[in-house]
Amino acid sequence: MRNLSFTNRIAFYFILSTGFLVFLIFIATYQIVSTTVNNRVDQNLRAEATHHFSELIADHGKLVFRDLDEWREKEHNDLNVNPILVQIVDEFGNLIEKSPNLKKEQMQLKKGLTGYQIYNESLNSELVRQVQIPFYDGKLLEGYLLVATPLEAAKMVIQNLKDVMILTYPIALLILFFLAKFIASRSIQPVTEIIHTAETINKENLSSRVKLPSNKDELYQLSETINNLLGRIENAVIREKQFTSDASHELRTPLSIIKGTLEVLLRKSRTEEEYKDKIGYCINETNRLNDLLDQLLLLARQESNSLNTHPSNFDINSLLLDIINRYSIRICGKYIQVSFDFSKEILIHSDSNLLSIILSNLLSNAIKFSPENSKITISVSEKNQVVTCKISDEGIGIAENEINKIYEKFYRASLSGQTVAEGSGLGLSITKRLCDTLNIQLDIKNNEKKGTEAVLQIPK
Ligand SMILES: Nc1ncnc2c1ncn2[C@@H]1O[C@H](COP(=O)(O)OP(=O)(O)OP(=O)(O)O)[C@@H](O)[C@H]1O
Ligand SMILES: [Mg+2]
Repeated sequence: MRNLSFTNRIAFYFILSTGFLVFLIFIATYQIVSTTVNNRVDQNLRAEATHHFSELIADHGKLVFRDLDEWREKEHNDLNVNPILVQIVDEFGNLIEKSPNLKKEQMQLKKGLTGYQIYNESLNSELVRQVQIPFYDGKLLEGYLLVATPLEAAKMVIQNLKDVMILTYPIALLILFFLAKFIASRSIQPVTEIIHTAETINKENLSSRVKLPSNKDELYQLSETINNLLGRIENAVIREKQFTSDASHELRTPLSIIKGTLEVLLRKSRTEEEYKDKIGYCINETNRLNDLLDQLLLLARQESNSLNTHPSNFDINSLLLDIINRYSIRICGKYIQVSFDFSKEILIHSDSNLLSIILSNLLSNAIKFSPENSKITISVSEKNQVVTCKISDEGIGIAENEINKIYEKFYRASLSGQTVAEGSGLGLSITKRLCDTLNIQLDIKNNEKKGTEAVLQIPK
């Protein structure tokens, strides 16, 4: 059963149910026809018996036909298809008179039966339906009237019906099976098409889609769901390819810079000053490579959902102060003024390491994209169990049409390219994902006058 195809299985269940139904209909038809035929025979026999009984009289203690000559003349001389056989016997069963169509045969009285009786009997080894009626003269039993008719014709009708049914039943089942198979295969045609399309899809050919059926039924929904799934897989694969090529490009750049610098150094001997300068440059690039690898690792861990959070209670203001201290060299280098009121303690419950990465990325961007002698404002406020942290700069800002793209991996807005080369475009992508992990709402927008503002809404 399990090895049957879906179409054959539907066809099988279909003929199982309809086969049973047809069987019941056949049985009912057989019963109805055989009862009707038998009733008809009995009705006929009764009418004949009543007619002949009315012709009987008792003549000096003997049962006779009222007008024997006439009776002999008109009745029962030939043996037709459904002959009526008539016979009268005395109370002991001895023959008095019989219709000529009985020829040498004689019907037997069934002793022990009282009153009007109708039953099956065998006459000359053939089945007949017989009626036996006692005749009383007053209270005296004078004899019996026996009337019979052969059951052959009725039996033949019923037997023929049975034969036809036995013969047509398997044929009907076979026709039903092929019909059901045809209908089932027509019904699952769209499924077969889905299978064919799915078979043609591989990693290189993800753009194929299942053809939508014209009826908006369950199969339409299935096809649509599969198409949506294919769309999501295609996007994921495209993103994956993009990420791999971008990542390798980003890693190759600092590596080739280091390689080139070292090769140039090797070509001839240099002054100590030059060596120090070039080696310092290489160390800088190595650090960049290191940072990039760290970020890629963090992204990979986020994407594989293996990033665990360790929430604790801590003061967000002291965390911010630590981060500002870490960036103090860069801040001082650009003569940036940082305005931040950290006097008040604001406790939150979150993962301090991950929040530190988020805040570092935002502050790093604010410093990176700000001109010298500008101002960065950091403010932290608390309302309805939500802590809002704003980092605002007076930098180059982000073009409005690019503001939605800055969270994409490796995306760097056009404005930033003109001024600052540093960076891989991974910072905000990581920041956004970490915010989602920690249930923090992140919103980056341009300030009205100048620069950008990043707003974090952290649940306490
Ligand atoms: N404060 C900001 N002012 C102006 N532009 C910004 C600011 N923050 C982000 N951007 C824009 O968004 C882009 C993406 O930022 P993101 O932090 O992801 O990358 P990055 O800073 O260029 O590189 P990374 O952070 O990986 O070193 C930046 O390249 C820049 O164009
Ligand atoms: Mg950044």
